[in-house]
Order: sequence, then structure tokens, then C-alpha cells
Amino acid sequence: MTINVAIIGVGNCAKSLVEGIQYYIENPEDKVGLIYPDIGGYTVEDIKFVCGFDVDNRKVNKPLSQAIRALPNCAMDHVQEISEEVVSPDALVYSGPELDGVAPHMLEYPEEVSFRTGAIPAESYDRVVELLKYHNVDVIINYLPVGSEEATKFYVQAALAAKCHFVNCIPTLIGTEQTLEVEQAFIDHGLTFVGSDMRSAWGASRLSEVLQGAMLDAGLLVTQHIQMNMACGSTQGQENIRTGRSANTDFLNMSKQDRLHSKHVSKENVLKGQNVVRDESIDGMTYYAGPSLTVMQKPGGKYIGSDNKVANLDLVAYGFGGARYELTARLSVQDSPNSGGVVVSAIRFCKVAAEMGVVGYLRGPSAYTQKTPPVQLKSEDAKFECDALARRELTNMTRSQLKEANPLARELPYTFQDNKTDYENK
Ligand SMILES: NC(=O)c1ccc[n+]([C@@H]2O[C@H](COP(=O)([O-])OP(=O)(O)OC[C@H]3O[C@@H](n4cnc5c(N)ncnc54)[C@H](O)[C@@H]3O)[C@@H](O)[C@H]2O)c1
Repeated sequence: MTINVAIIGVGNCAKSLVEGIQYYIENPEDKVGLIYPDIGGYTVEDIKFVCGFDVDNRKVNKPLSQAIRALPNCAMDHVQEISEEVVSPDALVYSGPELDGVAPHMLEYPEEVSFRTGAIPAESYDRVVELLKYHNVDVIINYLPVGSEEATKFYVQAALAAKCHFVNCIPTLIGTEQTLEVEQAFIDHGLTFVGSDMRSAWGASRLSEVLQGAMLDAGLLVTQHIQMNMACGSTQGQENIRTGRSANTDFLNMSKQDRLHSKHVSKENVLKGQNVVRDESIDGMTYYAGPSLTVMQKPGGKYIGSDNKVANLDLVAYGFGGARYELTARLSVQDSPNSGGVVVSAIRFCKVAAEMGVVGYLRGPSAYTQKTPPVQLKSEDAKFECDALARRELTNMTRSQLKEANPLARELPYTFQDNKTDYENK
């Protein structure tokens, strides 16, 4: 039993996911960091990477196991070598169409820390579909840079044509109308979808969700929730990084406002989501959740790739008799491995649900692993759905999405997805 996976965008998250799986193969007793060691009989050892698509000339036309280590990737190394058990010997990184994947400002940063295009000519749409079929791809993972709207649509269409399930790890296709359209297409093709915009196993979104939910459940009124994310700190503990500016390409991409809008909206969906699932108004709350500038320690200092991210949270709430509460929290994480912890589950949920006859967006796994799922759920309800799928048991939610029931996207549960930030709404 193998799940064949194709990666779109062979960046830091791809490196962490592939190396992380190799790590668990080499350390079979170690289950730390795996939320679900077993999903419907599939373990992480059953995931096999069969090809990738990228545009960077240091990655294209290279074996996938080499491309994950090419610059500008800077995520931590989990292992020395990648075995053929994890990445097929013929897994190559193909040249994908650039479309809107690379923002112009990325070409202005030094090549050690940013993208460099100009690889061999891109494969055509028909050829991409052919390659996905040739490699028997079960699941496609979308790891493109934030803002890749057109490129995402390209691979969604290719997934439908090649009959692949899709894990959309980025904040694209997040408006309600777009989500409905995508869901109906995946239902019609008998395929599953998890999306959109992954939330890490224990990242800023999870922390915001837990704090906001716990405060609301304690009867408090949350009036402010600010979540500022910064690229700072160092990946490898190199303290001499003080002379440089440390960030990964995900952060550099979002250093321009026009590139980060969708991420901003998606992150704020997490904060609003906890009110929505409790039927609590958000009208009185000021909220912000998004990337902020990377930290420049010294003007003109050199850039150093670093995968460390720091989130600062600031919440204000009112409780019994109008008493005020203030809470600040700081979380420092390795960004990309943190995301691998949920994607190893999402891949297997797609495959298992499809084998059970479920089609369309997987609501439980999407709510559990993504910032903007079709339906926001309380963490315990999302986990209930995931636990049931992991045991191959249907719930009321998944039963209504059985292929044989001919589900219609418009009749399935949806939480309205706002396409604007709090600032824009006000
Ligand atoms: N914890 C996390 O790291 C986390 C959490 C949530 C969401 N995400 C999102 O996941 C995505 C991937 O993150 P990452 O850190 O791996 O990013 P990255 O910048 O390291 O990788 C992006 C890759 O996409 C490639 N690319 C650019 N345009 C392309 C195109 N048109 N076709 C194919 N490849 C193209 C780049 O060359 C690069 O290899 C980002 O959108 C990020 O916001 C990450």
C-alpha cells in the first residue's frame, strides 16, 4: 500500500516533509511529532514522492531528493541521505509554468536567499497531466508561494484531469464562491480535497485558536486579538547571524503588501472562526493576524536564509463584572518542519476517505490542518472527524459526502468565508 505524491513548489516545506518522513523510517520507535501514526492502515512509511514541479533553475531537471536541498531552501536537515523508499529513483523535478508564482521583487534579493528563474522551457498543460498519470500520482501537494492564484488554478485543473486528490497548503481559492466551484468539480470527478492554507501542528494559528476558544468558553468577551509574525532568530543556532537579515523565501515573498493579502485574510479567518463556531459576534473585536516585516539587524547587512519564525500574540478580554484581562504570548518555531506535521496526515486522509467513497472537501481534516477550511469547527469537533476517518468510520458529516449520495457542494455545510481583512471591513 503506497500513496504516490507529487509536490508543486519544491521549497522549504517540501524539504521538511520529505526529510521528516525519512527520519521516521530511520527511527521507527519515534512517534513524536506525528499526530496520527496510523490513518486507516497507512503509516508515514507508505508515502512515496514520485515527482515535483518548480521554476527555479537550481531545482528544475534535478532528482527530487537533490532539489529539496538546493538553495535557497534553508530549513533544518533532519537526515543525511534520502532513501529510495521515500523518493522514487526516477522522481524528477519538472519545469512548471511560472504564471504568477514568482513575484518581481523576489528577483531583487540575492540568489542565496531567493528564487532564480530561467530554467528550461516549461512543460505544457497536456504534458503535466501526462506526467501526473505516468507517475500514478494519488495526491498533489500545493506548496507554491503565497499569491500564486493562477498557478494554483493550473494545477487544480491538472489534478482533476489526472484524477489526483489535492492538498492546498496555501491561501488560494479561499472565497466561498471559489471553494464551492472547486468542491463541485472534485465531487464530480470522485476526488477528495483538503484546504486551504495549512496551519502548523503547533504554530501561531493553533495558539491563537486555543487561546481565543478558551477565553470564549470561560464566558469572556475578547475585544482584541493581535497576532504578529516575524521572521527572526536563527535556524541552526548561529548567533553570529546578528550581522544579517534572516528570513526564508516564504517571508521574503510576503514582504510586499500586494503579495500577502490572501495570507492575511486566511490568518484572520482562524481568529474569527472561533467566534463563528460559538455563534459569538465579532463586531466588537479588533483583530489582526499576519506576517510583519523581517528583522533587519544592521542596515545593509547581508541576508541569511533562516526558517525560524516568531509569533507575538496580544489579547484583551473582559469578564465577570466588566473586569479586564490582558494576555501576551510569544512562540518561536522552526516554520517548515512544523507544517510537515500536519501534511503527513492530510495526505493519508485524502487517500483513506477516497477509499471509503467520500468525495469533495474533507471537512474534519481541513478544519484540523488548514486555516481556511470550508467549515470552521471547534478543535475537538475537527479531531472527532479526523479520529473517525483514521478508524475508517463514517460520521454524519462524511456520510453526507459519500459519492453514492450524489452530494451537491451548495447543499453541504459551509462557513461564509470573508475575502477581506478586518482593516478593510472597517
Ligand atoms: N509553516 C509553514 O511553513 C507554512 C504554513 C502555512 C502555509 N505555508 C505556505 O506553504 C507554501 C510553501 O511554503 P515554503 O516555505 O515551502 O515556500 P518556499 O518559498 O520555500 O517554496 C516555494 C517553491 O515554489 C517554487 N515556485 C515558485 N513559482 C512556481 C511555479 N509557478 N511553479 C512551480 N514552483 C514554483 C519556488 O521556486 C520554491 O521552490 C507557501 O505559500 C507558504 O505560505 C507554509
